[in-house]
Amino acid sequence: MTAAAPAPRRVGVLASGSGTNLQALIDAGARGELGPARLVVVGANVAGCGALGRARAAGLDTFVIEHRAFPSREAFDEAMVAALRARQVELVVLAGFMRILTPGFLAAFPDRVVNIHPSLLPAFPGVHSQAQAFRHGVKLAGCTVHLVDTGVDSGPILAQAAVPVLNDDDEETLRLRILAEEHELLPSVVRAFAEGRVSVDPAHRRALIRA
Ligand code: GRF
Repeated sequence: MTAAAPAPRRVGVLASGSGTNLQALIDAGARGELGPARLVVVGANVAGCGALGRARAAGLDTFVIEHRAFPSREAFDEAMVAALRARQVELVVLAGFMRILTPGFLAAFPDRVVNIHPSLLPAFPGVHSQAQAFRHGVKLAGCTVHLVDTGVDSGPILAQAAVPVLNDDDEETLRLRILAEEHELLPSVVRAFAEGRVSVDPAHRRALIRA
């Protein structure tokens, strides 16, 4: 295991949706539960999304870069990287950010882009994971925080939390039970990064968080 380079403390969150995971990060920070991590900016590709409203209500810096305004995925990502670098962001957290990142974006933040996904990866990558899990009839579901690579929900796993699937569940009750775990797991991983407790084995692409 090689220790990761300096612990990233300046956190930029990217979101496209309602932003409940962003809210969990904001609330954890307010309770002093993010350690030395600091939320420095929230970026969105959807003007008017709930996450932006939550960020503004918390007094956070925000930017909106709408992907439709760009001729290519690469050009959009370059603009995102520039906006994040302008704020000296060291760790990028995808919290319901519904865009696939290009190799150029990932090269700008090597092993410093994390995503929260609502399934126990590698099961049920992609969209509607909770519904996929429910329809498959699994008895354990959950969420995963992983490093982002160029695949879809395929990067090294950092942390997971499992929940039972109950007999009287429907897709919505299961989604909410998973979401509650997401709100605990994501802040804990951000804190681990900021405290220098994350390492990635470059040969095997296996990520570890020390206690
Ligand atoms: C969460 O379920 C997250 O796992 C997935 O997108 C959803 C975002 O929800 N990547 P929210 O915007 O944080 O409420």
